Amino acid sequence: MNFVTNILHILGSGATAYILANRLRDRATRANTLAGFQLAESGAVPFLTKLSERAATEGDTWLAEKLAIHAADEKRHGQIFAYGLKQMGKQVMDAEELKQQRESELEQKPSPFFANYYRNYTPEDLKAENIDWLAFMGSTYILELDASKDFVRMANALPEDEPQSHKLKQSILSVAQDETRHAAYLYEALHRRLTASKVEEIVEDWRKRKVDSMFAMVGDMISNGGNSRSLVKDGTPAKGKEKISELVKA
Ligand SMILES: [Fe+2]
Ligand SMILES: [Fe+2]
Repeated sequence: MNFVTNILHILGSGATAYILANRLRDRATRANTLAGFQLAESGAVPFLTKLSERAATEGDTWLAEKLAIHAADEKRHGQIFAYGLKQMGKQVMDAEELKQQRESELEQKPSPFFANYYRNYTPEDLKAENIDWLAFMGSTYILELDASKDFVRMANALPEDEPQSHKLKQSILSVAQDETRHAAYLYEALHRRLTASKVEEIVEDWRKRKVDSMFAMVGDMISNGGNSRSLVKDGTPAKGKEKISELVKA
């Protein structure tokens, strides 16, 4: 990473982590923030599952196994955030409700983050059956690596004096540990296919893209409040017998 990218990365990740941590700490915005995480984590599961199957078909059993574990982890992460919402008496709207809400919006803008991050890639290029393996590994490595750090910052922003948020904090810290493991296997996957200098070149390219995308996202958050659209509805509160600990790996 060159000096300027590095400085911008620190500034950018500080800004996004700060905004997200504030949204998580504030009970008024916590539900929507948790819902966003639930949708992002669970949303990755079908993609990762398909990629695992594709790797197996192509004869890379090492990668197929890693991707299957990755898919299972992201599924559990989605459940952890869903549980956090349930404790607040909320749940994510179902797919149909979210779709209707999107359609009712006058202006439909693609996420400024992903539009920038995957610039020069078409939606077709990014499907599990088509995506270039090196693009998948490089882009996901950067996202997982940063997510692992951002989740720690966010967990630490949760108030300690509320019992519910104490549990949520512990589970978000366990999510962060999994994201670190995901980053590690993706980095190893790149090294299994490329020389060290080529890996660094790819990582540097995705780091630059991430920095640009974060600034686009922060600009969007500041100018229009970011994702102000509600993602949640009232749900049935969590029952005592359901334990978040069952979702969190020891
Ligand atoms: Fe995750
Ligand atoms: Fe992950």
